[in-house]
Amino acid sequence: MKNVNNKWTLITGASSGIGEVFAHELAAKGSHLILTARSESKLNDLAQKLSKKHGIQTEVIVSDLSQAGAPAELYQACIERGRSIDILINNAGFGTHGLFEEQSFDRNHDEIMLNVMAVVELTHLFLPEMLRKRSGVVINVASTAAFQPDPYMAVYGATKAFVLSFTQALWEENRKRGVQFLTLCPGSTETAFFDVLGTNDASVGKKATPKHVVDVALRSLGTNRSYVVAGSMNYINSQATRLIPKKIMLRIVSGMLRPR
Ligand SMILES: NC(=O)c1ccc[n+]([C@@H]2O[C@H](COP(=O)([O-])OP(=O)(O)OC[C@H]3O[C@@H](n4cnc5c(N)ncnc54)[C@H](OP(=O)(O)O)[C@@H]3O)[C@@H](O)[C@H]2O)c1
Repeated sequence: MKNVNNKWTLITGASSGIGEVFAHELAAKGSHLILTARSESKLNDLAQKLSKKHGIQTEVIVSDLSQAGAPAELYQACIERGRSIDILINNAGFGTHGLFEEQSFDRNHDEIMLNVMAVVELTHLFLPEMLRKRSGVVINVASTAAFQPDPYMAVYGATKAFVLSFTQALWEENRKRGVQFLTLCPGSTETAFFDVLGTNDASVGKKATPKHVVDVALRSLGTNRSYVVAGSMNYINSQATRLIPKKIMLRIVSGMLRPR
């Protein structure tokens, strides 16, 4: 799908960072938007700004997608508003950092619910209608953390490895059925991610702008790729992790992510 004009895009995690930039870029291309996250006032401000600037329609649906049942409620709210989704961007997510046993289990649980379960459930809910239309795009935001296990970010890395594996499998299942799947794998990016993480220790290399990350994703649509890594050094590193012996690779990654 190259032309998003008059299509409806649902963006999770649209209140900040990469999701907010997706909203700006897709609005500029004429897509109507459903914006969701927990921060209602940020979403309302963004929706008003984008509809005024680009003459698009916007809807705000506040949802905590780490809660069981929230993805189904979000889907139902879209149905009740009569919106058929053409582009689904599963972007909402957060990370946790530190020794596994010292992390809050509740926080890890929410992380898995948001980064994994919400992605699976929203995809399961919205895909059938896209298949009926033989048209649709699903962009799932993973990370360069998806390409190897991540000591000190064990749960986060595993959630993103899941997103990469899941999305690539669905890319293959659907590539001749009119629905394009793309896994977006950013490296460190200038967003609130590291504030939420509570440390900058896990930031690797120079941070990209969220605009760069979103441009990479949107340029990849229609290129028949199952995943795209933002940044050439990040791409090289993501491939290198497959070539280096596992024990050595784990030691290198551990050195990069260790709390300082
Ligand atoms: N920044 C990086 O370095 C980086 C690198 C690789 C991958 N990523 C991935 O990129 C995606 C976007 O993150 P970002 O960097 O843009 O960080 P961000 O600025 O912190 O944005 C995260 C978004 O997710 C939403 N969110 C968080 N918890 C939520 C919940 N329980 N329910 C619904 N929405 C929730 C937040 O909104 P509310 O707080 O309003 O709910 C916010 O809109 C994430 O999946 C992240 O893992 C980021």
